[in-house]
Amino acid sequence: MLSQDEMKRIVARYALSFVESDQVIGVGTGSTAMEFLKLLADCIKRGELRNVLLVPTSSEVEYMCHVLGIADLLRQPWQIDRIDVAIDGADEVDPEKNLNKGGGGALTGEKIIDYNAEEFIVIVDETKLVDKLGRKHPIPIEVIPRYWRLVASRVVSQLGGEVKLRILERGKRGPLVTDNGNYLLDWFKLVDEPEIAEKRTKEIPGVVEVGIFSREHVHKVLVACSDGKVIEM
Ligand code: A5P
Repeated sequence: MLSQDEMKRIVARYALSFVESDQVIGVGTGSTAMEFLKLLADCIKRGELRNVLLVPTSSEVEYMCHVLGIADLLRQPWQIDRIDVAIDGADEVDPEKNLNKGGGGALTGEKIIDYNAEEFIVIVDETKLVDKLGRKHPIPIEVIPRYWRLVASRVVSQLGGEVKLRILERGKRGPLVTDNGNYLLDWFKLVDEPEIAEKRTKEIPGVVEVGIFSREHVHKVLVACSDGKVIEM
């Protein structure tokens, strides 16, 4: 039986077969996407992939591109006119391929890049599979900081569940501040209808983005299993 880290590496390697030379690649955030980025950097350095450009979903991806020596391939979203493929992780995947994302706080950049890619491919291990979103992780909601309490109350009164402001307990303590200068709410709620929940959450004033990524935008989910196989959903 493979460990979760081994499964992350296996699915990251599998995802390499979905990228080609001359592509603009959206690079997701999180530990699984970072495994993919490391393997991608190796392929680029070996000359197996040529003329690719990388669009980051977060400052974490930008930093890692510098660490891996491929920062010259980074392009900001306003510098490109297409994204051929986006490869990204997820915190939860339901049987219909709806996703819960944003455990790492990068949901807004991820959703903009992933939804605008010609092909959005999700890489996860089997521990991420759930019957309903919200089963193992709260749903992140990015909000404009000064209104966080009003937004939290509105989420609970209109949509149910419980909401907590995400606070960092280590390092620089206090509310987590996203790449966009916003706060994150964690919404504890089992989601019955993800597409409706995504829309209704975004209708609440002060909400910037919600971590529900509905299936219509997800082209493929690659799942690494503990026996070493990768299945495609
Ligand atoms: C980042 O904000 C998230 O959306 C990640 O994609 C998600 O948390 C998956 O991360 P791991 O691959 O580290 O589990």
